[in-house]
Amino acid sequence: MRSFKEQNKFGRKKHKVKKLFFSPEFKVEFQWKDGLSLRVGSVLPESRHKISNGLKDMSSVSIRNRFLGSKKEFSEKELQYLTILDGWNHYAIGVEECEGKCRGVAVIRLVRSHQFKGEAEVAITIIDDFQGKGLGSVLMDLIILAAMEREIHRLSFTFLPQNEAIQKLIRKVGTPLIGTQTHDFVQLYLNLKTIDTKKIKSNLEKIFPLFAQFQ
Ligand SMILES: CC(C)(COP(=O)(O)OP(=O)(O)OC[C@H]1O[C@@H](n2cnc3c(N)ncnc32)[C@H](O)[C@@H]1OP(=O)(O)O)[C@@H](O)C(=O)NCCC(=O)NCCS
Repeated sequence: MRSFKEQNKFGRKKHKVKKLFFSPEFKVEFQWKDGLSLRVGSVLPESRHKISNGLKDMSSVSIRNRFLGSKKEFSEKELQYLTILDGWNHYAIGVEECEGKCRGVAVIRLVRSHQFKGEAEVAITIIDDFQGKGLGSVLMDLIILAAMEREIHRLSFTFLPQNEAIQKLIRKVGTPLIGTQTHDFVQLYLNLKTIDTKKIKSNLEKIFPLFAQFQ
């Protein structure tokens, strides 16, 4: 066990953690559809600008689906919350374009429950131009492995009842349990102990050869 002070460049230096594959140094380029070069990596304080600008590349429907309400911009406090993470209880993976507009493209984050230490809430956002092309599935695979190495065994997802895309995305990786279901929102749980991690690793290895090293 080494402290974040020695090892980590996440914004917060608080928790002692084991050496992580999804560390602050996790950053890799990959070829996406239509010949696009993208980069995936841990969200760090320097991701702030891309995250802040990302809202401009989201439709009002996407914003509502992600934040369960409207949002024109992030406050300073929200930006700090979204980008200064401890990397253990709060961790996020971002995707950005390597060329052209160099936009922030997507973020998936997990936030550990205060009450149940083995559980985390997951939220995902993909800008509209990149939706429906399989990126959500890749990010879901990545966050599952990142959750597992953080000793998280159950993921929860909260979304609007009409959000078909996220429901399909969750059901692609496993069979969820229904938590709360009201007129306003649905909460589903995925038990990671029932997930086929070999399949996830093999999916990721096709895009990112370095996942052959993931234990
Ligand atoms: C939800 C979201 C993450 C899905 O990511 P994505 O990259 O668009 O999803 P994928 O292309 O990997 O597709 C996953 C599945 O959903 C389906 N899907 C994608 N978009 C869909 C849509 N608009 N309506 C219905 N199904 C859809 C796909 O067909 C696929 O299922 P299949 O493999 O059985 O065909 C993305 O659309 C998004 O960021 N939306 C806005 C924010 C949001 O809703 N966040 C979730 C709440 S936290």
